Amino acid sequence: MKNIVILISGRGSNMQAIVDACAREAWPARVAAVVASRPDAPGLAVAASAGIATAAVDYRDFAEREAFDAALAAVVDRYQPDVVVLAGFMRVLTTAFVERYAGRMLNIHPSLLPSFPGLKTHQRALEAGVAVHGATVHFVTPRLDYGPIVIQAAVPVLAGDDEKRLAARVLASEHVIYPRAVRWFVEERLALDGTRVQVTPNEPQWMFNDVSGEAA
Ligand code: GRF
Repeated sequence: MKNIVILISGRGSNMQAIVDACAREAWPARVAAVVASRPDAPGLAVAASAGIATAAVDYRDFAEREAFDAALAAVVDRYQPDVVVLAGFMRVLTTAFVERYAGRMLNIHPSLLPSFPGLKTHQRALEAGVAVHGATVHFVTPRLDYGPIVIQAAVPVLAGDDEKRLAARVLASEHVIYPRAVRWFVEERLALDGTRVQVTPNEPQWMFNDVSGEAA
């Protein structure tokens, strides 16, 4: 039984998707804890109501990034994580923290990396006029929003899209690919081959969002 520790900063809809899939699909794992970077993160209540241990390490209590990350690692380690899952965790992590969980920390980013690392990805995608946007699950390395790609979901940018509508379309696909990636990890099906991630037995490491049911 593997321990999953999920780090959040906000509403935690990706966390919820992982919690639900873990139970529904009877993964060889449990969500041991959900840890937030702020005590008012709405996702904490969601996790608690699912009977999951919760904790918060308030980033505002720490002047230095190093001290925050050390406190965060102390809390995370209490739950003996096999995998640390960043799900809308809005803090840039130090190299020391990233290296502590090297090869066992995943992140989801709302763009088709390496396009649009950083913030405001949907707005930037609209401004750039791309026809395809999406989300990426990747192993975390010290470089922000970089690292070996586990799975990507592509969605079309449709006429009349604004940031909100595009974000909702991307988020729906995040809720599919993130549980899938974490499941592969806990089933020990992921292997790193240089910059590439291989899934064994092989499964598509991409998905295209079907928008046929979406209101125009
Ligand atoms: C998601 O779009 C995620 O990709 C990004 O922040 C958002 C978090 O949403 N990093 P939620 O907290 O999982 O609902």
